Amino acid sequence: MSDTTIKTEILIHDLKVPLSVIDAGAKSLLNRQDTYGPLTDKQIKVLKRIIRNALTTQRLVNDVLELGRSREGVMITKDFYISSLVMAVLIEIFDLADPGAVDILRKAQSYEELNRFARECGVKLDFDSKVWKTIVHLDEAKVRQILRNLVTNAFKYKEAFVEISGSIEGKLLTLRVKDDGRGIPPSDHQKIFKTYFTTGSSLDSAISSHGLGLAGVMVLLKDMGGDLNLNSNDGKGAEFIVKIPL
Ligand SMILES: Nc1ncnc2c1ncn2[C@@H]1O[C@H](COP(=O)(O)OP(=O)(O)OP(=O)(O)O)[C@@H](O)[C@H]1O
Ligand SMILES: [Mg+2]
Repeated sequence: MSDTTIKTEILIHDLKVPLSVIDAGAKSLLNRQDTYGPLTDKQIKVLKRIIRNALTTQRLVNDVLELGRSREGVMITKDFYISSLVMAVLIEIFDLADPGAVDILRKAQSYEELNRFARECGVKLDFDSKVWKTIVHLDEAKVRQILRNLVTNAFKYKEAFVEISGSIEGKLLTLRVKDDGRGIPPSDHQKIFKTYFTTGSSLDSAISSHGLGLAGVMVLLKDMGGDLNLNSNDGKGAEFIVKIPL
């Protein structure tokens, strides 16, 4: 790794502390009104926005560090359930978009119940009960980042729904993320995996469209010996298929 890359990554790493101070400060104001004084509804709204954005930034910081780890070929593998992977991704995504939905999702007692709640939020889950309860041994942070990026994209472009499904055949884990949005014209199928290719505008929001998501997914997947396929045509939705060897 070059000196500049290390310096940049250390700088990004050092953002963690001030970010958690911002997060903790805003949460104290919000949750400890007995100590800090009462808040108006408008103040509560602003504080919640600060907390959500601190979380987004913390995630971005983690993602960058994770990519750095990937480029160095460092893997930290552990056992985890497919169900907790999917759940973690749903919570991360809804935490930002729809905090109310998170409270509902967390309450789900079974796959069926989770699926029912998720549908109300525009997500269809399609997992065999055996797969759902399978424990895999992989670099969980990397797999989660991959799935989160694909699901975030699907949410950005969906019309009505996003479908997440998974299967395991032999020593291969397959995860599929599908949406019913505008699709991707075949002429863009190669381009979208390149760094900084985006059809979204980064002006709309400070975080949403930098054209780095899929390029990052490719780095992470390469590290794990996995691959990514895309089924999509203009106007017909998109399906991203990830295969990761177990
Ligand atoms: N599900 C999808 N439906 C339609 N187009 C998609 C979908 N997923 C990705 N794309 C296209 O691929 C481009 C690149 O995606 P990528 O995730 O790399 O970047 P981004 O989402 O634009 O920005 P970032 O992920 O950095 O916030 C997108 O701008 C979009 O044009
Ligand atoms: Mg993206």
